[in-house]
Amino acid sequence: MGFPVVTPLTPADLDVVMELERVCFKDPWTRRMYLTDLTANDMATYLALRLPTAGKANHSSGPTQAAVPEEIATAGQLVAYGGFWLLVDEAHIATIATHPAWRRCGLGLYLMLALLDAAIARGARTSTLEVRASNLPARRLYEKLGYQLVGRRRNYYRDGEDALLMTTPALQEPAMRARLAAARAEAMQRLAGCFGARFV
Ligand SMILES: CC(C)(COP(=O)(O)OP(=O)(O)OC[C@H]1O[C@@H](n2cnc3c(N)ncnc32)[C@H](O)[C@@H]1OP(=O)(O)O)[C@@H](O)C(=O)NCCC(=O)NCCS
Repeated sequence: MGFPVVTPLTPADLDVVMELERVCFKDPWTRRMYLTDLTANDMATYLALRLPTAGKANHSSGPTQAAVPEEIATAGQLVAYGGFWLLVDEAHIATIATHPAWRRCGLGLYLMLALLDAAIARGARTSTLEVRASNLPARRLYEKLGYQLVGRRRNYYRDGEDALLMTTPALQEPAMRARLAAARAEAMQRLAGCFGARFV
C-alpha cells in the first residue's frame, strides 16, 4: 500500500476531522475550534497522517483491536491527526486521534513522534498533555514516549472525569532522545506490519 505520509492538517481536512472527532472523543472539538487554531494561532501546529495510495489494512502481523481490516482506503485518506500548542518552550499536546479502522498499527506513535519533532524544531524543551484517567490506550502511548504522570485535575472533563497531567523530561536529554529513537524504530516496524511497506 505504501507508507503513511506526514503533512500539515489544513482547513480542507475539517469535514473528515469532524467525522472522526465524533467517533473518537466524548467531547468532540468544534469546527470553529480547529479553524481558529489552523488559521489564527501562530503557536499551534497540527499534522495529519495520510495514506499515499489506495489499499487495505493488513493487521495480520501484530495484535490489533481494530476490527475493520476489510476497509478499503482511498489515496490520501486522512488516518490520523493531532496537534500541539507551543507555550514558551513547552509543547502542549492539544489532541491526537487515529481513525478507528487503523488503530494499533503504530500511527499514533508515529504521529506523536512527528509532533515532537516539529515541537523541537520550534524550540520546545519539554512536552505536556492532559489525558482522561480512564483512557488507557492513550496513557500507554504517552508512557511509551516518556511522558510521566505529574498531577491530576479533578472533575476536569464535562462528565466529571479527572484529567491526568503528564510531562516529558527535557526532550534533548540523552535518555529521552534514546527513548524517542527506540519508539521511532518500533513505530516503523509496526507500520511495516500493517501497511506492507519495506524499510532499509
Ligand atoms: C490513543 C490513540 C491515538 C492511539 O492510536 P493508535 O494509532 O492505535 O496507536 P499505536 O498503534 O501507535 O499504539 C502505540 C502504543 O499505544 C498503546 N496503545 C494503543 N492502543 C492501545 C490499546 N487499545 N490498549 C492498550 N494500549 C494501547 C500501546 O502501548 C501501543 O503499543 P503496542 O501496540 O506495541 O502495545 C487511539 O486509540 C485513539 O485515537 N483514541 C481515541 C482518541 C483519544 O483518546 N486520543 C487521546 C486523547 S488524550
